[in-house]
Amino acid sequence: MGALAGKKVIVIGASAGIGLATAAHALRAGAEVAISARGMERLQRAAETLAKEGGSLSYEALDMRDRAAVAAYLKWQAPFDHLILPGATVYRTPFADMEEDKAKGSVHAKFWGPFWTAYDARDHIRRGGSMVFYSGLANRRPVPGYVIGAVIDGALDAATRSLAHELAPRGIRVNCISPGIIETAYVERIPPEVKEQLFGAYASKVPVKRVGQADDCAQAGMYLMTNGYVTGEVIAVDGGIESAP
Ligand SMILES: NC(=O)c1ccc[n+]([C@@H]2O[C@H](COP(=O)([O-])OP(=O)(O)OC[C@H]3O[C@@H](n4cnc5c(N)ncnc54)[C@H](OP(=O)(O)O)[C@@H]3O)[C@@H](O)[C@H]2O)c1
Repeated sequence: MGALAGKKVIVIGASAGIGLATAAHALRAGAEVAISARGMERLQRAAETLAKEGGSLSYEALDMRDRAAVAAYLKWQAPFDHLILPGATVYRTPFADMEEDKAKGSVHAKFWGPFWTAYDARDHIRRGGSMVFYSGLANRRPVPGYVIGAVIDGALDAATRSLAHELAPRGIRVNCISPGIIETAYVERIPPEVKEQLFGAYASKVPVKRVGQADDCAQAGMYLMTNGYVTGEVIAVDGGIESAP
């Protein structure tokens, strides 16, 4: 029996990167998995890849910024056990060049999206279940050109600790993964020459001497779903940047 046999896992933002890897791990662990993302083409490709894992999988196009659509989707999928929320993109630009609508759009996508999704899911998660948010390194160490990401990451880390208490009476645990640099489509948006320099500098600085892979975060997601004694935690998956000199 897999560690998630008999459990249902919802992953919003699972056509690529950390969400896709987490869905694969959950399927291997015996869960029924429902994945979603905005773009249907990439989502279908992801579903084809995941079908090789076996198990029960469904997919549906969904934008986490669209609260009404997300609420209807959650109601349709209910009841479920774990809600995994990596689906977001954030506007990256130096402070001096920031545009208000883009900055607000990032907060809407990466903070309010998961926040209201968690709110609308709370009645649909079975006792003993959990939620996992995704913040990021920028809250702990400055990342150039990413001030709005830092602010959002801080808000998600703080919300995790508060919601762990708020949702405890319902038997729901709430945790957060704070990735360092993980080699996914997320960082592919960085210009190649900047990326090469950034990856090299990061890998040489952290104790494990490499950038992260989506699987590193997926393993953390599995731990948070399956360990019933962990809640209110922000888990750094970053190769040990905090202990770098
Ligand atoms: N990779 C890193 O280095 C890193 C570092 C720090 C934090 N993080 C955080 O970790 C999380 C996952 O990152 P990742 O690297 O796996 O990203 P990714 O490779 O870009 O994948 C993001 C996934 O989410 C979907 N998505 C994006 N916006 C969405 C929305 N509004 N509604 C529903 N789905 C949406 C994407 O598909 P569509 O575009 O088709 O919707 C895709 O499937 C994010 O919150 C990110 O901020 C990542």
